[in-house]
This record gives sequence, C-alpha cells and structure tokens, in this order.
Amino acid sequence: MAERILAEVTAEVAALRAVGVVPTLATVLVGDDDASVGYIRIKSRQAAELGFASPHVRLPGSATQADLHRVLRDFNDDAGVHAVLVQHPVPGHLDYDRALAELDPDSDVDGMHPVNMGRLALGLPGPLPCTPAGIEALLAFHGVPVAGREVVVLGRGATLGRPLAMLLAQKRPTANAAVTVVHTGVADWPRYTRRAEILVAAAGVPGIVRPEHVRPGAVVVGGGVRYAGRRLLPDVDESCAAVAGAITPRVGGVGPTTVAMLFRNAVRAAQRAVGRG
Ligand SMILES: NC(=O)c1ccc[n+]([C@@H]2O[C@H](COP(=O)([O-])OP(=O)(O)OC[C@H]3O[C@@H](n4cnc5c(N)ncnc54)[C@H](OP(=O)(O)O)[C@@H]3O)[C@@H](O)[C@H]2O)c1
Repeated sequence: MAERILAEVTAEVAALRAVGVVPTLATVLVGDDDASVGYIRIKSRQAAELGFASPHVRLPGSATQADLHRVLRDFNDDAGVHAVLVQHPVPGHLDYDRALAELDPDSDVDGMHPVNMGRLALGLPGPLPCTPAGIEALLAFHGVPVAGREVVVLGRGATLGRPLAMLLAQKRPTANAAVTVVHTGVADWPRYTRRAEILVAAAGVPGIVRPEHVRPGAVVVGGGVRYAGRRLLPDVDESCAAVAGAITPRVGGVGPTTVAMLFRNAVRAAQRAVGRG
C-alpha cells in the first residue's frame, strides 16, 4: 500500500515538474540526537528519490524557541517552500507544539497543526495526520470493510488514537464506522476490544493487547510502539495472530504507510500552493 501511494506521489511530483514547479519539502532538525539525525537523513533521501527538492536546516542543540520560530517563519514566507517537516522530538528545553503552531498549516506535512486537527474535526480538507490516514488507507487497500462496523481504538493520544477515531467516524465509504475509544479511564477496556470487528492498538504500552482481548476473526492493527534502544516493542503481542482474522506485521506495518502519507501531504501542499490541488 505504501509503495502504491509513493508511486502516485512520484507521478504527481513529475506532473508538477513538467509545468515548471519543483515541489519542495523543507526539513528542520534541532540538535544531534542520533535517531533523529538518521530519520531526517532517510526522509531527505526518499524525498530526493521521489523528485522533491528538500532544503534542510539544522539548528544546534542550544537553539532557542525564537531561533526555531524564525526558521519556520522564513519557510512560511518563502513561496518556493511548499511543505515543512519539523523532526520530532525537539530538545527538552523547546516546545514542539508551540513551534508547530508557527508553521503555515497548509505546509504542515504531519497534519498535526491545531488548524489541521480542527479541519479534521470539522471534516474540512487539509493535511491529515499521517499514521491515522495510513491506517484508513491500509484497511481500504486490503479490502477490509469499515463502514457500519465496530471499531475500537485503544488510546486517545493526539498523534494516533484521537485523530484516527475522528477519521474513521467520518461519512465516507472507507470510514463511516461505529468507533469506540478506550483508555486508562475505562478500567474494563477488554470488554470493548473483545467485541471489536476492527481493533487498533494506539497505547504505546508494549504487549498490552493479548489474544484474550481480541474477538476471533477480528482485524487487528498495531499502531502503538515503544523503543528500547533500537528494539521495537509493539502494543500487540505476536500471539494475537492466532486469534485475529488479519493483523499488521510486527515490523513494516503502519510505519511505511505513515511515511507514505507524509509525502502525499507534501505533494498535495505543492499542488494547492500552485492552484492545482
Ligand atoms: N508507527 C508509527 O508510525 C506511529 C506514529 C505515531 C504514533 N505511534 C505510536 O502510537 C502510540 C500512541 O501515540 P500517541 O501520541 O497518540 O499516544 P499517547 O499520547 O502516548 O497516548 C497513549 C494513549 O494510550 C492510553 N493508554 C496508555 N496505557 C494504557 C493502559 N494501560 N490501558 C488503557 N489505555 C492506556 C492512554 O490513556 P490516557 O489518555 O487515559 O492516559 C492514552 O490515551 C505510541 O506508542 C506512538 O509511538 C506510532
């Protein structure tokens, strides 16, 4: 599914270049956290492969909130920059959410700007949060019916559970579900997950979803992960595969679809900026 989206992005980037527009995705990194440096390098390389121009600004770990805002405002003012990615997390003395709010919402490739979350809540067009949009697309790609079905999302976090619940409850053929969100406030959350036809784990608690929490034959999507060093610890215990009708793989599940959606947001930002969106 991620490959198909990226093929579409490649074609759309080429179409823009053919009319003299170079789709541009700027990236910003603060500090020298090894993992973040690696992520940005991979995304920049992939952006170049897809045909984007990808200017990069790297601020030192000592950069101030004002320094970061200045970089983002410069990108906002540069008509040649269509999309901007601020690598998360930023160093502890900086406020990522405040920085994100400085960005032009139309160039927010993560779809996490407050304006874009508001657009999602209101059903207005705009960049969609990447992991939730990837999950909806993944279900559609694999022919999993969602409309009219019972979806339970474990977790109400801002990056995954909450926006996904909004997305899958929208009135569209690939959504339109009966969505329930459970969290730490629902002590008996397995009562809900056990009846879910589609269960999405979005808690960030390794192994929290076990076979006894899954309705036999249900579709299980593992969104939540935690890292122990470079080791990936998913929310969904692998033994759930024996009960589920379909399940995302431990590695290579919603990660690649998230990245694909990021580039889709970027090319759409470029299309909108030149009146072709
Ligand atoms: N694969 C990807 O590309 C990708 C992308 C984005 C996010 N993620 C992952 O998705 C996960 C969620 O991210 P987020 O930022 O949306 O989450 P978050 O803000 O950390 O929220 C986690 C949610 O899970 C709930 N939860 C935690 N422990 C629980 C428990 N024991 N029982 C019931 N509910 C529990 C929390 O409940 P309360 O609200 O009551 O505290 C909260 O709503 C993280 O693991 C993140 O790494 C993955």
